Amino acid sequence: MNAPARLAVLVSGRGSNLDALIRACADGTLPAGIVLVAGNRAQAPALARAAAAGIATLARDSRGHGDRAAWDAAFMADVAAARPDWIVLAGFMRRLDATAVAPWVGRMINIHPSLLPKYPGLDTHTRALAAGDTEHGASVHFVTAELDAGPVLAQVRMPLHAGDSADAVAARLLPLEHRLLVASVQALLQGRVRWHAGRLLHADGRPLQAPLQLIGAALH
Ligand code: GRF
Repeated sequence: MNAPARLAVLVSGRGSNLDALIRACADGTLPAGIVLVAGNRAQAPALARAAAAGIATLARDSRGHGDRAAWDAAFMADVAAARPDWIVLAGFMRRLDATAVAPWVGRMINIHPSLLPKYPGLDTHTRALAAGDTEHGASVHFVTAELDAGPVLAQVRMPLHAGDSADAVAARLLPLEHRLLVASVQALLQGRVRWHAGRLLHADGRPLQAPLQLIGAALH
């Protein structure tokens, strides 16, 4: 049997996606262990969640730190020291610079609350509602230097209803995000999808023509 994969999770806030990963590692859904949870907000509830679960944490506050590239380099050096196989950004609200990202391209994913390429950046639910979209969702994509623009591995879709508020949309989407993130990490650990030279391939080498879609708990 292969050794469990080593995951590092980067966080800035609440940590509900982190929690989904912790549970999936504990119940065997993911053949993996979380070796580090690292955050750029010392007070992030996600760091407290990790500590309560007995996971090593690293808090390095980025506020008031003028030299972005130096902060990113130091933070990612600390993350690298935990020797992760994969880095998962789960509510990590900072854009890392290209030099910090480069060694991890192909091994670092992010969950974003929109159907990318629609609505990179912030306030995705408000923007989808304002545009009159009838469908919205979340994406798991590989992290590259450009914000929310790396190849999309998987998505989950849900309808928007007349009169929806951004808060209502966020509440409906969040449990779907949790399932999407766990299923995406699972697909990577199983080698069902892999990164090759800037593109995503199926296990048999065919290029992924479109993101996998989460239906129920499974990716199709
Ligand atoms: C999620 O909506 C995620 O898509 C976005 O930030 C939020 C993080 O939530 N990037 P949590 O901290 O995992 O609860």
